[in-house]
Amino acid sequence: MFKIVVLVSGKGSNLNAIINAINNRILEHVEIIKVIGDRSCLALEVADKNKIDWCLIDRKNENFSKMLLESIPFDADLIVLAGFLSILDINFINIWTNKVINIHPSLLPKYGGIGMIDIKVHEAVINNKELESGCSVHIVDQEVDRGKVILQKKIPISNFDTPQGIQKKILKLEHEAIVMVINGIKDKEIILC
Ligand code: GRF
Repeated sequence: MFKIVVLVSGKGSNLNAIINAINNRILEHVEIIKVIGDRSCLALEVADKNKIDWCLIDRKNENFSKMLLESIPFDADLIVLAGFLSILDINFINIWTNKVINIHPSLLPKYGGIGMIDIKVHEAVINNKELESGCSVHIVDQEVDRGKVILQKKIPISNFDTPQGIQKKILKLEHEAIVMVINGIKDKEIILC
């Protein structure tokens, strides 16, 4: 069984996509062994509703990084940041090197980095008159949103697009991309290095 831990901060739509893929046997031999939130969020309700072990570690706690590291089951095969907004410290990255992936709603390295989250990303894309955008699944390393890109999915941007409209279209792509990458890593078609 390929065991994944999912870290969350938001609505949990990416978590839900992974759960649905498991239930629909698109993701076979994959188990979400734990969901960890850094704040009270809908994603933890998604975990609870699906009877997945979950915990909340408050990002404001002074021992957040230590507690987060200690809460990761030792037998996890992959850690998936799915809408997770806290920054993993260097100790965490060193211990879980090449075992952590993140989904980001832009074509990295463009529109990534600290502060580039959610609607802000899409507003910047529109303001800069980009002709395309999309999402990226990448390896998490010590530089925020700068790890090796594993998969990108793209959409064209027109003059009529709004940030909210782009966000909605890209979220759908994220759900496909995160499942594809988990499958690829599980089947050793994608090697994280
Ligand atoms: C998504 O836009 C995702 O790209 C970003 O966080 C947002 C919410 O994700 N990382 P989710 O609905 O909580 O999975």
